Amino acid sequence: MYDTLLVETVDHCCVVTINRPEKLNALNREVFQDLNRVLDLVEKDASIRSVLITGAGSKAFVAGADISEFSGLDREQAMALARRGQDTFFRIENSPKPIVAAVNGFALGGGCELAMACHFRIASEHARFGQPEVNLGLVPGYGGTQRLPQLIGKGRALELLLTAGMIDAQEAFRCGLVNHVVPAQELIEKTLSILRQIQGKAPVAVAECIRCANLSASGQSGGYAQEVESFGTCFTTKDREEGVAAFLEKRQAVFTGK
Ligand code: COA
Repeated sequence: MYDTLLVETVDHCCVVTINRPEKLNALNREVFQDLNRVLDLVEKDASIRSVLITGAGSKAFVAGADISEFSGLDREQAMALARRGQDTFFRIENSPKPIVAAVNGFALGGGCELAMACHFRIASEHARFGQPEVNLGLVPGYGGTQRLPQLIGKGRALELLLTAGMIDAQEAFRCGLVNHVVPAQELIEKTLSILRQIQGKAPVAVAECIRCANLSASGQSGGYAQEVESFGTCFTTKDREEGVAAFLEKRQAVFTGK
């Protein structure tokens, strides 16, 4: 069904593996097309409750945008390329269903940007992160100059951006870029176990948390007002009634997404 992705559903989680290991899973036009198709599926299919994104092979999550597509672009074409990447990554960031990156190796350039567009990141011990675009005479174009400072602070972000340096998984953990570092063989199961935990919560509440946190992280105004709106929205749901009733009755809540 997909030329560049492996897609399977595990316990209501859509596991998406970017599958160009011979090119270290670099993001070309086809990968973006496939990612958008899988995001369409995730939006439409109510049985999918979460998404895990990882890379094929043991070496790379994604080693960047496919550099072979950069030759001969003029200014307008380059801007269109950046917009294509940003638009796809906005879809990921704004998904009401949780999308988590399981970073299994190099996450460079567009790969780091893809991981940062996800709601959070789990890394294997040999994962490495960086935005090496200045080596190519470029800036990141898929949101890296914005999300990296949001996630690790301006000073650390600018050092990485300006030196084209790489940080290992432990350093990424220390600066808040990843939430957990685990041995490679435990990466998928650890990520799935967190997603299963989230899938047990009220879907509308989960979606509204994502909406509010995105507003906060992007530095836009209106986050507190959105929180009030979201709080109200949750009060219109059956799941809120169920959650409160289950607490009072000392039992496990069963949420339906309604
Ligand atoms: N775009 C296109 N192809 C890429 C790629 C990218 N971003 N990253 C790696 N590849 C390709 C290589 O060209 C090579 O293909 P080939 O076998 O047909 O020559 C293959 O993937 C393996 O990569 P290679 O460089 O041989 O592996 P390595 O172990 O020596 O180095 C990296 C690994 C990640 C350090 C190195 O591939 C690299 O620096 N990649 C580019 C990272 C980057 O600048 N990303 C930002 C892009 S905006």
